Amino acid sequence: MIRIVGSHLYIGEYLAEDLAERFGTPLYVYDKEVIVENYLRLARSIPYEDLEILYSCKANNNPEILATLRDLGSGLDVVSPFEALLGIRLGFPREKILFTGTSVSDDEMKFVRGELGVMINIDSLSQLKRYGRLFPGTEVSVRINPGVGAGHHGYAVTGGVTKFGVYLNQIEKIRDIAREFGLRIVGLHMHIGSGILDANVYRETLDVLLSVARRFSGLEFIDIGGGLGIPYKPGEKPIDLDQFGSIVSKALRDFSQSHGHVKLRIEPGRYIVGNAGVLLVRVVDIKEVEINNSRKIFVGVDSGMNHLIRPALYGSYHEVIPASKADKPKEILVDIVGDICESGDILALERPMPRLEEGDLLAIMDVGAYGYSMSSNYNLRPRPPEIMVFRDEVKLVRRRETFDDLIRLVTNRSI
Ligand code: LLP
Repeated sequence: MIRIVGSHLYIGEYLAEDLAERFGTPLYVYDKEVIVENYLRLARSIPYEDLEILYSCKANNNPEILATLRDLGSGLDVVSPFEALLGIRLGFPREKILFTGTSVSDDEMKFVRGELGVMINIDSLSQLKRYGRLFPGTEVSVRINPGVGAGHHGYAVTGGVTKFGVYLNQIEKIRDIAREFGLRIVGLHMHIGSGILDANVYRETLDVLLSVARRFSGLEFIDIGGGLGIPYKPGEKPIDLDQFGSIVSKALRDFSQSHGHVKLRIEPGRYIVGNAGVLLVRVVDIKEVEINNSRKIFVGVDSGMNHLIRPALYGSYHEVIPASKADKPKEILVDIVGDICESGDILALERPMPRLEEGDLLAIMDVGAYGYSMSSNYNLRPRPPEIMVFRDEVKLVRRRETFDDLIRLVTNRSI
């Protein structure tokens, strides 16, 4: 559980301040209890009898998180050869892993399907043909672009005019190519976008997907992708899970009755891990300036867009909590900025805060999804460690990177 008690932020039974002291900052902290609750809540909200959750590990590939979800019975949505390899190494059954790539090369298919034995979810007609040549007579799934999408930002919309999936006017070609190579299309898939807070969006697109599915026989699963959003801003409403569950269950039951039984697959990423992660950062430099008779305060911290790119890339909002001054009156308006040499290196804009001092600890909230997994070594800065808290237990899962990790060990010259 992540909560504020008095002026302090707690993660599980730990004071954020103590974790920062022990592991250093910047620091990614995950709460296992929150992840487990999210998974179980989502699973329970979908009454369809034959449901398989494939956690989308692009959201966060921390091995401890993956192992936790594996133990709960989750499968895995993977998008790269190494994500697939990670799933196999961590003991996910291969039949519960689905590879949904984009711009996929023959070599990648040879590795994922040929070496790892993981099913491929095809993204284009070209890929289907190349797959057919490599693996004739095998089972495969196809990603359909239902013609509409949704998401929290244009970059996170993947249905409609985007590079993703086989378009609706190409469906006949799927059947032709499958026939040519003796392929069995056992699954149809869609993923329309990410950060969806209105469950109704799934109704329309699922209708489209199922109408395509009626043109196929021998289907074993329908995969409706991920996309379920979480509230980031105070006052934002969570997605209505019961509504989501009843929309998809009803649609799948109707389909199964008229067309033969299929398994329902969903691929949530953000919903499972988003609110389970906190990035702890230290205030290192406060700059106050007068501009046109008004005061501007830049609060500089020891992290930045290299560790959390969502605000810079999408203008995303993440709540920031002063971890030891949480109940102090908010008296100033600040921009929270990082230590990366770009003006876009912003973590939060114009936030009301209590008086801050250098050395204060800030907690950037809801960074469990697309935080660490989108981080980089820009400016030759190491990634922070990731720790996992479970009630009164804590463990270091991934340590802080070193100079050697970043450059010395991967460079073909002596440094
Ligand atoms: N399945 C497929 C095929 C996907 O491409 C994705 C996400 C998911 C499932 C999981 O979506 P989720 O349940 O997490 O919304 N970097 C962006 C989000 C990009 C999502 C890409 N695909 C962000 O930080 O908001």
